[in-house]
Parts: sequence; structure tokens; C-alpha cells
Amino acid sequence: MKNGYDHFMLKEIHEQDKVIKNTIGYYFDGTIESLIKNLPDLTKYNKIDIVACGSAYHTGLVGKSLIEKFADTEVNCEVASEYRYKRSFYDKKTLVILVSQSGETADTLAALRKAKEDGIDTLAIVNVVGSSIAREAKYVLYIKAGCEIAVATTKAYTAQLAIFSLIAIYLSYKKNLLTNKDLLEIVKEINNLPDIINKTLENNDYIDIAKKIYKRDDIFFIGRGIDYALSMEGSLKLKEISYINSMAYAAGELKHGTISLIENGTPVIAISTDNNLREKTISNIKEVKARDAYTLFVTNEYIDSDFYDDIIVVDKIHELLQPIITIIPLQLLSYEVAKLNGCDIDKPRNLAKSVTVE
Ligand code: AGP
Repeated sequence: MKNGYDHFMLKEIHEQDKVIKNTIGYYFDGTIESLIKNLPDLTKYNKIDIVACGSAYHTGLVGKSLIEKFADTEVNCEVASEYRYKRSFYDKKTLVILVSQSGETADTLAALRKAKEDGIDTLAIVNVVGSSIAREAKYVLYIKAGCEIAVATTKAYTAQLAIFSLIAIYLSYKKNLLTNKDLLEIVKEINNLPDIINKTLENNDYIDIAKKIYKRDDIFFIGRGIDYALSMEGSLKLKEISYINSMAYAAGELKHGTISLIENGTPVIAISTDNNLREKTISNIKEVKARDAYTLFVTNEYIDSDFYDDIIVVDKIHELLQPIITIIPLQLLSYEVAKLNGCDIDKPRNLAKSVTVE
């Protein structure tokens, strides 16, 4: 049932407050002991390979950023269709993490089987209970997102992000990189998360922004670090449901070629939530603004300036949880753009919810 929403996608976007509460609450009661009890012993691995497709791959990229930064652990993240055929440099202390909403994606399943054949431990982060990937992996962490109908994933994506946040918290604590004081602060933020998600969902400004960009042929997303990973998901969401050509670039890469595509009014959506990289990203936005791009600045800190045409400010929360909030305006913006273009939002052309063929 759509529960009064025009589309399942919109309904699922609006379920994210409850989903995130569920996902986190299932594994974490605010104590590190609960994580130790509910997660497998991840401390025995010194390297992690994250393997997935599409949006699940994008959550892996965010996971990589969080685990590397907070848990000081090397993480490799690759799309399953490449990973399954290439030489792997793992050893017995490598954990291969497979991420999949459906648990049936052919390439991800093949990557899982390859790791198993090589005797490597596997952990599945999956939504559909009893699916092939969940059954065949050594460990499974269900994301508890509930049934997702829309082909474009939203609530499963953020639930996967939440699992990666928990893994990063757990590893960071076990490696003595997170103190009890940090943990208390994170728990406080986790408790506030559903309200912050609600507040982010209530913002309606995205319709006005969608009206400015929905007729364009090309839309670019840029960001650095974790914001680049979020840009990739923002771009995929937009192109899969609105059929507008969209690409995500590491902001610093633009000047190495892509900037030649920027012309009067080309939309460039820049994501910037990482304080340490903010000035660098702003300088890249200025480069495209100087070439008459339309710029949308998505940030967690308001800045009064003329380098952007529009600004979306999301709440600033702990870095471990920030991506869950930052992606929401991008989901809603994609939805509004697709709606203005009259697209079949829940069932975009040429796409299936579960890709069970290679
Ligand atoms: C996301 O909106 C897409 N529909 C697609 O990229 C999807 O994430 C990908 O096919 C992986 O699916 P899975 O999570 O079921 O493995």
C-alpha cells in the first residue's frame, strides 16, 4: 500500500526515520557490549574488501571512508562485476563484505562464491531474509529495512549506511580509537537521528530547485572524500528515475577534462559536509560558476556567499552518521525532477528491482 503517497519511492523515503531506528536498535542498545554480542568478531581481520553493485556499492564506498577514518583499517571497495573476474590480493585475515538489498544480485553472489572458494570469510549485509547471499555467507547482518518496492532504493540504502556506521563504531572502539565519552556523544546523536531525519524530510524547497533543472540534458554532481561517495548515489538516483544524463566526479578531477562540458546554466550539484575539505570543494564550485554553471550547494554548514545559486543545509551531526542525513535531499530532489518529467518513478524503464542475471 502507498499509504496516501503518490509513489512507493516517496513512501519509502518517508519511512527512513523508522527504518534507521529499527536497523540501529536491532544491533545497538547504546552499549558497546550489545555490538560485541550482535556483530561477528571483526577484530581478527586486518583488511576488508567490500563488494556490491549499484547503490549497494555506493554504501560500500561510504563504509570504506568511515572504517578507514575511524577504525584505521584498510578497506578496498569494488563493484562485483569487476571483482568476480579479477585477481584478488586477500589472505586469511581479509574479510569480504557483500552488500545487497535483494540478496540475489548475480554478480554479488558470484563474488561471494569466489571468496568462499578461496577460503576467505564473508559477511553479508542484506535486506531480504533467507535470500541466496544471506544464506551462503559465513555471517549475515540483516538491515531490517522492510519490504522495498520502488526500483530505486532509498530506505535500504540508508539502512546499509547505518550498518557501516555500527561496524566503524565497533572497530574503532575495539582498537581504542573511540573513548567512552565519544561513544556517549554518538549514542545521543543516534537517539536524535529519527527526529533529524523527519526534519530533513519536511523541507519542501526541493520542488523549486527541481523546476530549475528538470529540463536540462546533463547534470553533474561533485564532492570530495565521503561526499564524493554520496555524489555517486545522488547522481545514480537522478539518472535512474528521471532519465537525465548525470555523472558524479571527484570535485578535484573536473579540471582534468569534464569542465569542458560546463556551459551556461549546466547544473552542478556540489556536496560538502566534510569541514576539512570544504574550502577545496568551494574552490571547485567557483571554477564552474565562473563558466556560468547553475550551482546547488548541499552542505551541513550555512555559508553566505555568491558561489552558489541555491543552497540546501542539512543538520550537522557526527561524521559517522552524517551521510544518512545528507543523502535525503538528493533522494527527494531526484524524485521531484522525475515527477516533473512525468517518468514512471517506481518502475523506471529497462530496470529491475533484482538483477539476477549477469
Ligand atoms: C538502486 O537504486 C538500483 N536499483 C541498483 O543500483 C541496485 O542498488 C543494484 O542493482 C544492487 O541491487 P542489490 O542491492 O539488490 O544487490
